[in-house]
Amino acid sequence: MISFDQIIPLQEQLAQWRNRNQTIALVPTMGNLHAGHLSLIDKAKQCANKTVVSIFVNPTQFVQGEDYENYPRTFEQDMDKLAEVGIDILFCPDVEKIYPDKMQLQSQVTVPELDSILCGKSRPGHFKGVATVVTKLFNIVKPDIAVFGEKDYQQLLIIRRITRDLFFRIEIISMPTVREADGLAMSSRNNYLNTAERKIAPLLFQTLKQIVDSIMAGDLAFTQHQKNAISKLDKAGFKTEYIRIRDAETLQKPAAGDLVILAAAQLGKARLIDNVLIRR
Ligand code: PAJ
Repeated sequence: MISFDQIIPLQEQLAQWRNRNQTIALVPTMGNLHAGHLSLIDKAKQCANKTVVSIFVNPTQFVQGEDYENYPRTFEQDMDKLAEVGIDILFCPDVEKIYPDKMQLQSQVTVPELDSILCGKSRPGHFKGVATVVTKLFNIVKPDIAVFGEKDYQQLLIIRRITRDLFFRIEIISMPTVREADGLAMSSRNNYLNTAERKIAPLLFQTLKQIVDSIMAGDLAFTQHQKNAISKLDKAGFKTEYIRIRDAETLQKPAAGDLVILAAAQLGKARLIDNVLIRR
């Protein structure tokens, strides 16, 4: 594994591989790696000759008052995990490399509609930060393939959209959410849960699964399902931000195609998100 924190040397190495017809897969992360991240890396290794993992805690996707300063940074442990799974390049630039100008002078990438609903509504500017940094990473690395998790479902759709709209010649591959034994979706933010909250946390996924069961049984009272789920979670101690049943392609009101049920809820200091897909 070669580590780069500078863009030009990274690109020189990548160019050498590209000249030898080696395909390149990119897995962007913010570090604090867990089994969810490692599943993406595994996939990347299967799909391309060379695997690049980036670790960059992107300041522009944290909204004011969020946990940018306190976001878990566990570089040594991450390095050990990456060395163990065996990747080709670790790209870990500092903020000045990715954002060389003053933040307020930076070009930014927006995705109309999709970036301002659901999580985009409660975290204004968040997806602009994500779309901008992913665009930068795509332009720096120019991978053939990039792998993302379905855990961040809205983010995944936004990345598919910028790939299409901005003509990136990159295949976007998505991987299912990796969960703890009790169903809780793995996330760096689970670290913020205390013991009592950690016991309650799996209820989020259980509640989504119950909605799936009702829909599969033919009960299409979507609004009622959403309401019931919110009141159940709130009673258990969550502050539920939203539970929405949406079209899986557009995140608009359900149509004839696949559905996705999305949730965001605060539990103690942790903001948890999760989703389940219903193929039909
Ligand atoms: P981060 O939260 O570190 O996640 C990096 C990648 O891992 C994302 O594609 C995310 O969807 C995926 N992931 C996280 N938890 C997962 C789980 N339990 N199962 C499967 N995949 C999981 O998402 C980001 O970083 C950033 O927004 C980023 C895309 C790197 C841009 O800054």
